[in-house]
This record gives sequence, structure tokens and C-alpha cells, in this order.
Amino acid sequence: MLQVKNVSKSYRLTPVLNEITFQMQQGESLGLIGESGSGKSTMAKLIVGLEHADGGQITLNDVDFQELRGAELRKARRHVQVVFQDPLASLNPKLPVWKSIIEPLENYPDVVPSFLKEVRNDRKKMAGILLEKVGLDRNLLERYPHQLSGGQRQRVGIARGISLQPNLLICDEPTSSLDVSIQAQILNLLKELKKEFNMSYLFISHDMASVQYMCDRIAVFKQGVLVDLFLSKDLFSDTRHPYTKTLVEVTVES
Ligand SMILES: Nc1ncnc2c1ncn2[C@@H]1O[C@H](COP(=O)(O)OP(=O)(O)O)[C@@H](O)[C@H]1O
Ligand SMILES: [Mg+2]
Repeated sequence: MLQVKNVSKSYRLTPVLNEITFQMQQGESLGLIGESGSGKSTMAKLIVGLEHADGGQITLNDVDFQELRGAELRKARRHVQVVFQDPLASLNPKLPVWKSIIEPLENYPDVVPSFLKEVRNDRKKMAGILLEKVGLDRNLLERYPHQLSGGQRQRVGIARGISLQPNLLICDEPTSSLDVSIQAQILNLLKELKKEFNMSYLFISHDMASVQYMCDRIAVFKQGVLVDLFLSKDLFSDTRHPYTKTLVEVTVES
């Protein structure tokens, strides 16, 4: 489904990503782990087409985003959505919850995911269904972001992310801004939604425990280089890259 081949990116001559290559299958979840500044979010931006790579190829369902412009890029982008780390920053403070949730649907008026077909002429009902999918009550529809808890806000961000029923949902540190007690609930919700909608996840985190819990495979970034890529069940194998082993030790100690 997703193919990333020899992708490089620099900001002002400083290399941020170096010849990155990996693939993802439909329905798979791939973890992307590495310390802060290792290029994880940049990789995400390249995949959604928010930034352009200096070299290499990124194709989603055999479509090369780098070659698309305007309407074509917009059309292709629909299949990839992102859940951001900080839901307060990614939600418009002036919009009630229901409007934030249906914003992606407003951007693609001709797209109606099958689970919303019955209410296709009622935007608010669409938002209501999406809100329930993420475990929130419909009575939150009229609230504003600042009136919600951090966990509720992230659920709203997830409702937005799934509204177009994307093939690929990129979760960029989706629980990093949340209390530890809430983190597991959000991870479990993401797991359930993945099953229900057969989405693929690119799950970005600096926390090995959550990546291992969420993902079939794990890719390790170190200073813009993909140093290790393996099945989650092989995390503790002797053949792991030395850098991966140091990440595992940090997890075990904390
Ligand atoms: N728009 C930008 N302009 C200049 N440098 C950037 C920009 N975005 C990211 N960087 C730099 O690229 C590196 C990787 O950043 P990022 O992809 O956000 O890492 P991560 O998400 O792994 O923490 C960092 O050194 C960061 O400062
Ligand atoms: Mg980041």
C-alpha cells in the first residue's frame, strides 16, 4: 500500500532524513520510533505531502504524491489522515466539536464513507456517529475544545482522522501530551478502530512500550537514518541493532 524508497530530506543543508526505505501492507501497523529530532515527524509530513522530499519516491496505492499538484494531490491525500500529538493545537478553538469533526468531510463533499451513508444529508448526525465511534457522548457536539479534557480532545482528533475512512492513519505521538492514566485508553481505542475500519497505522512514538503494544513491525530512526526494522515479536532478539537495544533498556528501566 505505502512504499517509501530512498527518501532524503534536508532543511537548509542539514540532512534530516537519509535514504529512507520501507514498505507497508494494507491493514498493517508500523511503529516509527526514535529520539526527539530523529526525523519522525518529517517522515510523516513527506508521506502526507505537506513537505517535498529532496530525493526518492513515496507512493501510496501506486500513486506518487511527489508528482501530484493541486486537485490531484488533494484527491490522493484523502486516503492518508493524521492524528497529531497536541489536540489543543490541532483543533480550531473557535469551532464547536461537531464542526471540527466534519471538517475533512466538508473538504471532500463527494466522499461519504459507508458507515455514514444513512445520514449523508445531515452533517451534525455524521459528527454524532463519529463521536460515538471514539467513545464520546453526543452531548459534547456543541462544546468547544477548551471545555474538554485532554483525553476527550484527542478522541475528537481521532474522530476527525477517521472521518474519511482513510487507508492510512498516521498517528504522530498521539498520547505524548496525555496523562499516563489516559494513554492506555487512547491506545486501546486506536486498536479497536483499526480493526473496525481495516486501516493501516503509521504509529510514531518515542515510547517503545506503546509501539510494541500497537504495532506489527517497528522501524527505528536514529538521526535521520533507518537503523533497524523488525517484527515486534523480535524486539528482544539478539540480532537487534545496538541502538534498538539501548532504547529497550531505557524502557525496561523506566
Ligand atoms: N521546517 C523545518 N525547518 C528547519 N528544520 C526543521 C524543520 N522541521 C524539522 N526540522 C529539523 O529536522 C529535525 C527532525 O525533526 P522532526 O522530524 O520533527 O523530528 P522528530 O519528530 O523525530 O522529533 C530536527 O533537527 C528539526 O529541528
Ligand atoms: Mg515529532
